[in-house]
Amino acid sequence: MAQPGFNEKVKLNVADVFDQSCMIYQAFEDKHHFFASLALKLAESIDLKPNTMVLDVGCGNGISAQVLNKHFSCRVLGVDLSEKMVQAGRLLCDSPEVRLEVGDGENLAPVIGNNVFDYVLYNASIFIFPDVERTIREAAGCLRTGGKIAFSFYPAFTGEAGEDILVTAFERLGEPAPRFRVITDYDKACRSLSLHCDAVTAHEWVLPLDIEFLQDFFSIPAQSASLFPGKDYETRRKLVRRLFETLADVADHSAIVWRMAEGTKP
Ligand SMILES: C[S@@+](CC[C@H](N)C(=O)[O-])C[C@H]1O[C@@H](n2cnc3c(N)ncnc32)[C@H](O)[C@@H]1O
Repeated sequence: MAQPGFNEKVKLNVADVFDQSCMIYQAFEDKHHFFASLALKLAESIDLKPNTMVLDVGCGNGISAQVLNKHFSCRVLGVDLSEKMVQAGRLLCDSPEVRLEVGDGENLAPVIGNNVFDYVLYNASIFIFPDVERTIREAAGCLRTGGKIAFSFYPAFTGEAGEDILVTAFERLGEPAPRFRVITDYDKACRSLSLHCDAVTAHEWVLPLDIEFLQDFFSIPAQSASLFPGKDYETRRKLVRRLFETLADVADHSAIVWRMAEGTKP
């Protein structure tokens, strides 16, 4: 049997870690309503029109898909690598206008068929794709002319002078900072967007640095793996608590910056 290449291995690992994240992901969302708020913020930032067709790539358990349906009456097709996230989402979704399917966002054809969309959105998912150029190319392929591709991105953590305070937190904890926090960085995702879209525009959502929120967010197994790769979950969870405690004295002057970008198909 052929061995999976690097990108395929990354995706198998992503599917596995999100399968494991399912329950804690939903518990986090029940407490913070965060992914729903982020999806709304992304939709508002790009002036998403109601009653449109949306492809939600990396839909997880359908939180973003449901929000777009409830608030904008969109018909949404969600695609995600993780079977468990999709199964959980099907139980949560109560609208016939939301459909969630297991599939690879870098190989959309088997899931979307001949459908044409007004928007392709990635809410907190694009930074996990190893071949970002391919997923954006595929997204552009199923978008109508004038349609938009948009994403919200892994957060930046900035101190008073704009410095990266996660670096400070790792120094204070005495643990090595991860070499990479994401699989695909923001600039690369934006470059891919500009290969297939015009009018690429960036947006930001700046929130105060909330230590409890960050401890809960990074206690989701998939998120903690981005900070402490290679360690078991229980160890990661304990380290996450201590990591963000180190920032107590600077929290009032620091921010969590959620970056977003959009582009329009010419
Ligand atoms: C942080 S979750 C976001 C889920 C959802 N958009 C939301 O707002 O709740 C990221 C999701 O991206 C999915 N994902 C990552 N790479 C993917 C790929 N190549 N194709 C499809 N889904 C992918 C993961 O399985 C995970 O469920």
